[in-house]
Order: sequence, then C-alpha cells, then structure tokens
Amino acid sequence: MYKLEGCIEISGDKSISHRALILGAISIGKTKIINLLESEDIFSTIDVLRCLGVKIKKIKNTWEVIGNGTGGFIEPRKILNCGNSGTTARLILGVIASNPINCTIVGDKSLSKRSMSRVTDYLSKMGADVKLTKKDYLPILISGNNDLLPLKHVMKKASAQVKSAIILAGLNIKGFTTVIENRLTRDHTERLLNYLKVNFSLKRLPNGGREIRLQGPYEIKSKKIVVAGDPSSSAFFVVGALIVPNSKVTLKNVCLNPSRIAFIEILKKMGGKIKIQKIGKKCGEQIGNITAKYSKLKGIKIDSAMTPLLIDEYPILSIAASQATGRTVMKGLGELRHKESDRIKSIFYNLKKLNFDVSTKGDDIQIIGKKIQIKNNNTVKTFGDHRIAMSFLILSILYDRKIKIDNEKCISISYPKFKDHLNCLITNS
Ligand code: S3P
Repeated sequence: MYKLEGCIEISGDKSISHRALILGAISIGKTKIINLLESEDIFSTIDVLRCLGVKIKKIKNTWEVIGNGTGGFIEPRKILNCGNSGTTARLILGVIASNPINCTIVGDKSLSKRSMSRVTDYLSKMGADVKLTKKDYLPILISGNNDLLPLKHVMKKASAQVKSAIILAGLNIKGFTTVIENRLTRDHTERLLNYLKVNFSLKRLPNGGREIRLQGPYEIKSKKIVVAGDPSSSAFFVVGALIVPNSKVTLKNVCLNPSRIAFIEILKKMGGKIKIQKIGKKCGEQIGNITAKYSKLKGIKIDSAMTPLLIDEYPILSIAASQATGRTVMKGLGELRHKESDRIKSIFYNLKKLNFDVSTKGDDIQIIGKKIQIKNNNTVKTFGDHRIAMSFLILSILYDRKIKIDNEKCISISYPKFKDHLNCLITNS
C-alpha cells in the first residue's frame, strides 16, 4: 500500500504563463518572466510568437520577451502551429485580428476538432477577415487590420479564452471595446493588465458576471511577471491526499484566484480536510499553500452554474466521487465535450471500464462510490488528454499502481514534472 506524504512546489500556472508571454510580446520593452510553465502548450505559444517577430529567450531561470507593442507583429513566413493548445489558438487569433497581417493557423488532430468560430465570430464582427475550415475549425486564414471597429460584445458562452481574445484585440483598437460576460470565468488577463497599469474599467454585474471596458489603443510598459503555481495541477495531489489512506500533502505557492479554486470548496463540501494558508500576492494574484489530508468523502450534487469555475477539474473530481460514499451528480457539463478530448466520454469510458458505477444523462455525469477490484491489465484510455492521464494515475495509487495509462506522454502538455512530483510524494504506508 502506498500513501502520499510531503510538500512540493507546483509548476507555474498554464493560463497565466500564456498570458505573460502574449502580454510581454505586445508590451514595449523587455518582460522578464519568472516560474513560467515549461510545457508543450506553453512552447506552442512561444513558437507562434517567435513566428510573429517576437524575440523570446531563456537566460538561466528567467524567460525574456522583447515586446514590439500592441500593433507590432510582423507577417509570419511560416504557418502558425498551435499544437494541442486551445488557449494559444484562441488568444493569438485575438491579438492577430488587430494587426495588419495575414496568417495561417493550424493545430494538431485534437485541436483541429475544437470550435474556433466561438472566437472568430466576434473578431469578424469587428472587421477581421477570417476563413475557417468547415465554418468552425482550424486551419484558419486570418487577415487582421489596424482599423477594427470598437464594439460592445455580450458573450454567448462562458469562456475565458473567448473573453481574453476580445480583450487582446481591443488593446489595439481605437475607441471603446466592451465585453460583457454573464458568468464569471478565470480573470487572469484582467488581473495582469491591471498589474501592467493598463487603464480599463471593470464592473461587477448583479448576476455575478462582469463588464470590461477598454479604451484603446494602449501602449503597455513591460514589467517583470512572476507566475504563481497552477491550481488545476495542484488539484490532482489534493484529491490524491484525500482518497489515499494516511496521506497528507502540502502544495506550495499555488495561485488562489477565486475563479480557479472552486474545486476546493466542492471537495470540502464532500468532507475533504483541506487548509489554505495565504502567503501574499504576486502580479495581482493571491498565492498560498494548500494542505490536504486523507478524509472520508461523501457524494454531492454539483450545479451547472459551477461549470465555468470547475471546467478543468471535473476529471479529477470524478476520481474523488468514485471514492465517496453515495451519489455525486455533476450537472451541465456540455462544455467538457469541447476540451482536449470529449471529457464526458473519457471520464465515463474509463470509470465504466474499471467497473465503477457511472452513468451519463445528456450533459450530466452521475457517479456512485463503489469499491472495485483491479485486475493486472487494466489500461486507461487517455484519448490523448493530459488531465485524464493524471487523474487516473492518481486513482492508480489506491490500487498499488496497477491501473496503467495508454499514453503518459500527453501529460507534458500541461505538467511535464507531474510524475517527478508524484514520485516525491509517494511512500509506502
Ligand atoms: C483557459 C480557459 C478554459 C480552460 C483552459 C484554459 C484559459 O477554457 O478550460 O484549460 O487559459 O483561458 P474556456 O475558457 O474555453 O472554458
């Protein structure tokens, strides 16, 4: 039997890392980035920005980005390849839209199946010329211009990527660009802009949403950016500690942005013993340490209104639910079908295969906690999805690491150090 014990420092946050690079690229001067996540998705953003004429290099432990200003991209000589990264594709579409350049954007097989019209519909309205494959997908041809219309956009879907794409375009548009989101999504773009002293207004709406109003074009002065630890990555170890008997782990320097740590509230509601120690602020983000220890979990109902705040955590919450007493129902997960894999399908397929009590109805998943026996050759199918791979590796600890993963390589998309960190924490019970 194994347990998880000890303390690790979680790698840099993926969302903040993308934004630090992109905002560095459109600032004036040199942006030094500390604790940048070095993962496949972030390397996609670095490659794409380099193709757009931005100089980026690593000196010792610091990444340096030499910004060309909000309208400073040059027309790339190469196709822009976003790999597996939805955030790279959608955010970069936003910035390119207000630059007078022509670009072709592609991605890997998984990314080429993910909707891009959810971003380009807004960019086309502003005046960018966008040609999509089958009206929704990569490859995309985009011709931006520096004369886009400053418009008011009410977001149809709760999506931080779409919101950020419009904001990034607005930074180089003359006049007022307004974005209204009726449900709060992660707000790292807004926090970093605030930290960079970009003057925009942010109004909280009575329904919990936000109105963001920019008056471009802006000149952004570069500042050093320190990236906080990734809360979504920490969630794997938090759940690991909760479900594996005798475990106790502390995860240091994690970003405690309220739009990212709803999973902690959910796990506490399930009976999880989790403590948070706030230790300060970095670049507009609260950071702190999270300590979790083994707990008896119980099933709960998770309302669909929570979806935007838990969007990346459902795979690992499903693992927690599989070990809880009673029924967990996670409602309104439609957006999960549009992630690196169809996560409703990947969660269902694998829990079912392992003989757990799992069912789906429309976009809801129901899991009833159950003790199962693992035979030697149980292999999880990741569907190339990093969060599915890490979630089931955490479950595997409970079963003497007998659950195998068909493709561990995909973990490097968001968390190349995951296995090292896991091995640091695993001890014999
Ligand atoms: C992200 C936003 C989320 C999330 C993704 C990263 C971001 O996607 O799932 O992993 O960095 O803005 P949506 O905003 O499309 O839900």
